[in-house]
Amino acid sequence: MDLGLAGATVCVQGGSKGMGRAAARCFAQDGARVAILARERATLEETARELARLGSPEAFGISTDLSDDEAIRRAFAEIGERFGALNTLVNAAGPTGGSLRTFDQLGDEEWIEAFEIGALAAVRCARAALPLLRKAEWARIVNVSAHSTKRQTAILAAYTAAKSAMTSVSKNMSLALGPEEILVNTVSPGSFASEGFRQAMAGLPKERGLDPSDLGDCMRWIREDFGHPAHLPRAGDPSEIGPVIAFVGSKRNSYMTGANINVDGGSDFT
Ligand SMILES: NC(=O)c1ccc[n+]([C@@H]2O[C@H](COP(=O)([O-])OP(=O)(O)OC[C@H]3O[C@@H](n4cnc5c(N)ncnc54)[C@H](OP(=O)(O)O)[C@@H]3O)[C@@H](O)[C@H]2O)c1
Repeated sequence: MDLGLAGATVCVQGGSKGMGRAAARCFAQDGARVAILARERATLEETARELARLGSPEAFGISTDLSDDEAIRRAFAEIGERFGALNTLVNAAGPTGGSLRTFDQLGDEEWIEAFEIGALAAVRCARAALPLLRKAEWARIVNVSAHSTKRQTAILAAYTAAKSAMTSVSKNMSLALGPEEILVNTVSPGSFASEGFRQAMAGLPKERGLDPSDLGDCMRWIREDFGHPAHLPRAGDPSEIGPVIAFVGSKRNSYMTGANINVDGGSDFT
């Protein structure tokens, strides 16, 4: 299926690792020009080289702290200079789970940090990208939220609240931008063995016998510590969600907006 991405211009924030990078790879393979935003320069540069190898005619990273509105504005000014217009913005950056504490154990700073990266970064990026999206012949925004918004875990209080805010504002963006045919959707991942995920798992006590490279063990951790089982007996690999994000963010998706798509290995969530 031709997604209509050849020559399209795409920005994936959080595109240097995990699910964001998996999506960026799909856009690159289909011939899109891709800008990726994250903090670590080395991973950005390495990923940009990989995207070029995969077929992107223009791939580059901009080191950006997405909790800094000024830095976001500068990044989109640079994207504007290079691309002129933007077809697709993917907001994928975020922590895998944030500070694992109950609501009363979290201080204001941690709450604010969770909202800055979990929700406000998507709003700030969409706001900064809007003039460029409006210049494009077709435009899409994809917001990567989380399945944990649909089932509470006490120690994911701030993370879940921030992702719930992102899911809500994503729907609002769809309503606000619908008249201009800028389509906005949410993709809600279940458990994915991304870099962030594996790193968090690597810190677990050895005696638990959980191997971060084993997708079955990844799901066992999630089931035991967070109570989020899936129908499938394993976690997802980021390469299994990248194509979903790419489709939702493509020209080919022409009538789905305001949707919240679960990619979670099976759940009872609607
Ligand atoms: N993995 C899961 O099981 C899971 C489940 C549900 C939802 N999610 C959500 O899905 C998205 C992708 O998660 P992932 O697990 O694939 O992530 P990951 O492997 O941890 O990668 C996170 C990406 O975001 C960037 N990032 C993080 N904080 C940033 C900041 N302050 N400024 C700029 N860039 C920042 C990272 O780059 P730098 O570190 O270089 O900045 C990296 O590119 C996140 O929004 C996450 O909350 C994940």
